[in-house]
Amino acid sequence: MLRHLYEIQQLDGRQLSGLMALARAIEARPGYFQGRLAGRRIAMLFYEPSTRTRFSFEAAAQALGATCISTENARQFSSASKGETLADTTLVASGLVDAIVLRYDHAGGAEEAARYVTVPVINAGDGTGQHPTQALLDLYTILKHVDQLEGKEIVLVGDLGNGRTVHSLAYLLAKHYPNNRLVLLSPNVREVKMPPHILDYLDSKGVAWRVGRVWNREVVRSADVVYMTRVQQERFKDKPTLHAKVVEQASRLNLIPGLVGRMKPSTIIMHPLPRLAEIPPEI
Ligand code: CP
Repeated sequence: MLRHLYEIQQLDGRQLSGLMALARAIEARPGYFQGRLAGRRIAMLFYEPSTRTRFSFEAAAQALGATCISTENARQFSSASKGETLADTTLVASGLVDAIVLRYDHAGGAEEAARYVTVPVINAGDGTGQHPTQALLDLYTILKHVDQLEGKEIVLVGDLGNGRTVHSLAYLLAKHYPNNRLVLLSPNVREVKMPPHILDYLDSKGVAWRVGRVWNREVVRSADVVYMTRVQQERFKDKPTLHAKVVEQASRLNLIPGLVGRMKPSTIIMHPLPRLAEIPPEI
């Protein structure tokens, strides 16, 4: 039994299949689960902006009968603005709630908070670290559309250095679905390439992977899952020149109708959102 979820590779096979089965059951019969969290209170503690993660957690909590207390910009609107540490903030919150959903602005925040709190902590994205619940949703989506997640080609595209969703998805696929091929398409700039610790993990699980800078014919034709991500502009605040270089190179990876038209009809295209120009509206 997991108490906290701060990185996706914590989950073993039984826990993962249990979560997928539970999600399928909730989707099939949402009414059956109403009120399961009645009387519970959950803190949504967000240090970075969010649209869908926060809304999703709050909507889910409410659907299950829980109430929420929240801070949507904790750096500005919580006592973090006065210098309070993450440890103190989360320890105080844990005295008031039954669980904490934490989006933090640095990698490792949720794992750090888990050391102090007295209630479960769920990582809702920690800087350039991980986004494990997004990966669960992404896997759930893939399994809905791909018959056998084996021998498939999964193409991760964009800012693979800063994008926490691709980090969690790569770890998740490598641990539980290692018999697929990963293609990692990103600009040829160190900061936006898949980090070495993830490549090491892929190797340790025997996952076949290769990197690329552009869409070539082979990748277009063999892709089963295309997972697009945006350049994380907020990670380049003090580096406008580097940002411009990355954006220019990344724009060559954007999908266009002619490219998508050459993919297999069964290929699925995903994006964790928010979307910039990676997938134009006509696609
Ligand atoms: N996918 C995702 O994390 O989106 P938000 O940043 O809007 O929560």
